[in-house]
Amino acid sequence: MRISFAQSCKLHTFLLYTFFLVAIATIIMGVPLENALMTKRAEIQLTVPGCPTGYVYKASLCDEINRLMVFCENSQNPDDVQVVYNDCGPDETCIEHYYAIESDLDVPHATCIDNEHRVRKWDNFGEPAKETCSPERGYDIESTDMEIAVTIYANDGKPIQVNIIVAYKNGVEISTVYDQHNYTSVIRNYSDEKIKYCFTTGSDNKVTAYAAGWDIENKTFLLDSKS
Ligand SMILES: *[C@@H]1O[C@H](CO)[C@@H](O)[C@H](O)[C@H]1NC(C)=O
Ligand SMILES: *[C@@H]1O[C@H](CO)[C@@H](O)[C@H](O)[C@H]1NC(C)=O
Ligand SMILES: *[C@@H]1O[C@H](CO)[C@@H](O)[C@H](O)[C@H]1NC(C)=O
Repeated sequence: MRISFAQSCKLHTFLLYTFFLVAIATIIMGVPLENALMTKRAEIQLTVPGCPTGYVYKASLCDEINRLMVFCENSQNPDDVQVVYNDCGPDETCIEHYYAIESDLDVPHATCIDNEHRVRKWDNFGEPAKETCSPERGYDIESTDMEIAVTIYANDGKPIQVNIIVAYKNGVEISTVYDQHNYTSVIRNYSDEKIKYCFTTGSDNKVTAYAAGWDIENKTFLLDSKS
């Protein structure tokens, strides 16, 4: 996992490759390709952190809205930690969340995901001093446990702290964080509840928030369902 993770800068390419291998195997085994195509879900576009050869991935954060800051450790010498930067693909947004490398969700991890289907975006330009909330919607998930994550950016594309970030599940508060530019929470046994996110800057800063749901078991971002 570690090696392939470190080397696969573009998970997208890997997934496509895997898909074709499966498709070829399917043809050889006599099942029509059409069936394989039908069961393939919407193509996942994302960019995950990568490390140079000889270095092992440790953690990552969002340096900017479209750039990952990646911490890589020399596999021969743990004291040698390099910080490298990976650019997101076009129309992707960097979201900070947690990721299980060995066991629990303990490693800060940044992923660039496609804006169109997986990111819920809202801003406070209407009334910068007031609380601003996202639309209330569910996530399209087949497994049970998910992590929700919000990252907030200033107009210059840098992460910016706000006074309050809070999330609700069917109108009931999940948790609140103070003076952070990011928010995450794990939801166990998720079953189509509607999720809403809100923030208050505590200033007149104009900021934009980006939220997404991460499928813990399948290690991927979820479709933000439109209902
Ligand atoms: C959120 O930001 C804080 C402060 O920079 C950082 O310590 C923490 O790891 C971040 N969380 C995630 C999930 O990246
Ligand atoms: C994710 O995991 C669930 C069960 O753990 C599985 O049924 C499903 O096919 C997986 N893939 C996707 C894309 O949801
Ligand atoms: C989730 O569901 C399982 C099985 O139904 C149950 O044992 C567990 O306590 C539930 N966890 C939460 C956090 O609701």
